[in-house]
Amino acid sequence: MAEVGPFRRLLGHMGSHKSTIRLASVCSITNKIWDLAPPLLIGLAVDVVVLKEESFLASYGLVDPWHQLIFLSVLTFAIWGLESLFEYFYGILWRNLAQTVQHELRLDTFNHVQKQGMGWFDERQKGDILAILNDDINQLERFLDKGANDLLQVSTTVLVVGGVFLFISWEIALFAVLPIPIIIWGSFKYQRSLEPRYAEVRKSAGAMNALLENDLSGMSTIQSFTAEEREMKRVETLSNRYREANREAIRLSAAFTPLIRMAILCGFTATLLLGGWMTLDGTLAVGAYSVLVFMTQRLLWPLTRLGETFDLYQRAMASSTRVLDVLTSPTEVEQGDFSPDEQTIEQSSIVFSNVDFAYPGREPVFEKMNLELVQGETVGIVGSTGAGKTTLIRLLLRFAEPNNGLISWAGRKLQDWNLERLRSSMALVDQHITLFPTTILENIRYGNPNAEDGQVFEAAKLAEVVDFVEELPDKWSTLVGEGGHRLSGGQRQRLAIARAVLKDAPLLILDEATSAVDNETEAALQRSINKITQGRTAVIIAHRLSTVRNADRILVVENGGIREDGSHDELVQIGGTYSRMWAVQTGQSN
Ligand code: UTP
Ligand code: MG
Repeated sequence: MAEVGPFRRLLGHMGSHKSTIRLASVCSITNKIWDLAPPLLIGLAVDVVVLKEESFLASYGLVDPWHQLIFLSVLTFAIWGLESLFEYFYGILWRNLAQTVQHELRLDTFNHVQKQGMGWFDERQKGDILAILNDDINQLERFLDKGANDLLQVSTTVLVVGGVFLFISWEIALFAVLPIPIIIWGSFKYQRSLEPRYAEVRKSAGAMNALLENDLSGMSTIQSFTAEEREMKRVETLSNRYREANREAIRLSAAFTPLIRMAILCGFTATLLLGGWMTLDGTLAVGAYSVLVFMTQRLLWPLTRLGETFDLYQRAMASSTRVLDVLTSPTEVEQGDFSPDEQTIEQSSIVFSNVDFAYPGREPVFEKMNLELVQGETVGIVGSTGAGKTTLIRLLLRFAEPNNGLISWAGRKLQDWNLERLRSSMALVDQHITLFPTTILENIRYGNPNAEDGQVFEAAKLAEVVDFVEELPDKWSTLVGEGGHRLSGGQRQRLAIARAVLKDAPLLILDEATSAVDNETEAALQRSINKITQGRTAVIIAHRLSTVRNADRILVVENGGIREDGSHDELVQIGGTYSRMWAVQTGQSN
């Protein structure tokens, strides 16, 4: 397949705005045509005062020079009025189009990013994605705001001026105007050599953004390790790379305007000499000569600005490539349309059969792993750190896919499920809790945006949230800060439990959900959890064995699979890993 250029790709995405683009283009071109009229008016006026009754206008029936001048004045007013009107129109159309396109592109891209699998995020840096969603889209906005109009108007100028020259004298046109389109074409090709340089600029901007984002979120770590100097150096290196990439581009693009100016100078001189000679010779009217001289002047300004416009264009294309690459990257998570009702889900078990899984480039986490999570049961999962407990949950949520084997729920493999249905059937308290920078109340309500206040408080009570919240000065309206950093670790965990309880899903998953609370709170939470897990399937992962002791079944994850499976008493009886862990935690062994 032929490589489609970024401009085409962008146009493809702007399909729904075709009519606006057309209208705006017509306004830009019309405005330019009126804008090019004054030299003609000047020419006509010169013609009137030099030739009087013999003038160009006189040949159309307006014999009296005074009448001719009045006619020209009225025409001038009309033309200036029209020019201004169309300038207003194209301004509004292009600028609003730029706003609409950046708005839609940002939403589309973000929407697409939200559909990506976790593997996609693992390969990228948050700051780089952020740069695409912000800077790159803004770069496109800047081009559409001004650049598209500039390109159209320059082309119109060259065509109209060329036409007028041809009409007046093809000999002068040959020397003065014909080289200009060729020079522009050549310069555009030359400017294309900027493409890879701007791609580099955008890439280094993304990398720098990623580092800054990382540093800002890890500021307390940086300061506690007094690593400010080191970080400063790293930022400096990347900032330098950005500057160098830009310098390369500037070196090329700065040569552009002087080049164009030289081209126009040739045209201007040719007109001056050749036209002047023909006028002296009597083959060219004085009026026509002045039209030509003023016209070449008219070329100068827009053409010298062309460098800037091409620059804007190339930058926009580099950005556009980045944005469209994200927008068209296939979403990794494929889904089916299996969407069973709540009751079916509640009465179904989850089965892992012969599941193999390894993270890319790593040792396998699971090999031929078999497991059944029986509906209605509370299952505790234990195992040493790094054994694969969280990975098991990621497989359930389809944040990762088995390499072999299958996982099924309600008799259908997870890939057949409608993804939203699947995930809305699980309430997860993650090992690494993310709270949103809003109030405590709203953070809990995140579990079910339609919940009444009463339901939110009920969930908060079950998660032992109420006591500590009542002691806060702003109570339920307390802002938790970015990521919830204004709360303690244990408080954050309890909010996350309340949020999951409020979601009220058929499968409840707690991954180290109570690891940060004290023993007393843990015991209280335990009672709540017993209540919540009544009649639903629950998976509770914990290092602290007291948390899972009362589970219907406890599984030990070890060496790529489930190595022990039974109730607390049974496992202690067997005398395997679990019993050793139990002995260590209860102080019977060391
Ligand atoms: P898990 O994250 O599943 O381990 O990682 P775990 O049992 O929950 O551990 P704790 O108790 O929370 O500490 C299982 C293995 O997968 C690797 C980890 O390094 C670990 O060896 N892993 C995890 C990856 O390679 N990539 C990841 O994105 C996550
Ligand atoms: Mg874990």
